[in-house]
Amino acid sequence: MAKLVVVTRDGSEHEIEGENGLSVMEIIRDAGFDELQALCGGCLSCATCHVHVETGGERLDPAGEEEHELLDTSAYRDARSRLSCQIAFAGHLDGLRVIIAAED
Ligand code: FES
Repeated sequence: MAKLVVVTRDGSEHEIEGENGLSVMEIIRDAGFDELQALCGGCLSCATCHVHVETGGERLDPAGEEEHELLDTSAYRDARSRLSCQIAFAGHLDGLRVIIAAED
């Protein structure tokens, strides 16, 4: 199974199994990382699933307009920012490395 690497806010790195068909947010949440709040459950209305994609970003579909608008509400947005609920995980994303963004 493909791997997802998650870096939590304390800088520690965790390698977890990525399940095809789930979003990156769901995989992180289901693995028990409660610092990724994902308050809206993936409805694209909260931005609390913000991550910085450190490795593998070139393999992702580009962010849509609504995702960009929500990311603009974060003080911590940078060029690598994505909403993890909008990233559908699949085998070609093996090794994707994401850093959970600071809390706004
Ligand atoms: S979980 Fe709310 S926008 Fe991603």
